[in-house]
Amino acid sequence: MIEANGLVKRYGKFTAVDNISMTLNSGEAVALLGKNGSGKSTLLGMLAMVLKPDAGDVKVDGLTGKKAREKIAYVPQNIVLFEELTVAENLYSWSSLKGKENTARADYLIGELEMEEFRKKRVDKLSGGQRRRVNLAVALMGKYDYLLLDEPLAGIDEHGAECIEKLLRKEKEKGCAMIVTEHNPTILLPLMERTLRIDGGHFIP
Ligand SMILES: Nc1ncnc2c1ncn2[C@@H]1O[C@H](COP(=O)(O)OP(=O)(O)OP(=O)(O)O)[C@@H](O)[C@H]1O
Ligand SMILES: [Mg+2]
Repeated sequence: MIEANGLVKRYGKFTAVDNISMTLNSGEAVALLGKNGSGKSTLLGMLAMVLKPDAGDVKVDGLTGKKAREKIAYVPQNIVLFEELTVAENLYSWSSLKGKENTARADYLIGELEMEEFRKKRVDKLSGGQRRRVNLAVALMGKYDYLLLDEPLAGIDEHGAECIEKLLRKEKEKGCAMIVTEHNPTILLPLMERTLRIDGGHFIP
């Protein structure tokens, strides 16, 4: 279970996330919805422990710090890749950062996300939607029990979105819990057990 207690994030005098507490149960899928600037990415970043809260804390299965972080895969809204490396090399590099190079997992994700056609292309030569798929795949190269995805469908065409939906459904069937932020989560909503709505850094009904 991910347990967030009293999370606050301020940027100067502006409070982007204002005292949010929440839980994500093991195996559960939750949609985090809200308009632009409502605080989705800020909250998700704190849950993923890549953004330090000004107040409050996050525990994962009762753990904090590095041990907690290791249970989470985080897909950031901003694409973070090695631009001069190919798609396959990006996937291999991310897996070797996390232990041994896992070529079987890379091949599986390249297949599921239909990236075969451009697996040998450098990332800086890809289209926006292709880059978004690679950004998702690198996060899925590690081991994790919780998957935090920040707008995984942004710029993805309909068929790509269906591939992502199928992949996430399989992850969920394996017992992985997830939080997905979206503006318009029509394709992913059937996967979700619960919806949280955020506005002005607060949850709203
Ligand atoms: N690094 C930053 N410095 C200053 N203000 C920030 C920073 N990051 C976010 N904000 C502000 O915090 C608020 C919440 O931003 P956040 O990125 O969490 O929103 P969001 O719900 O993810 O929006 P979007 O749908 O556009 O991705 C916004 O008003 C934004 O301007
Ligand atoms: Mg965002």
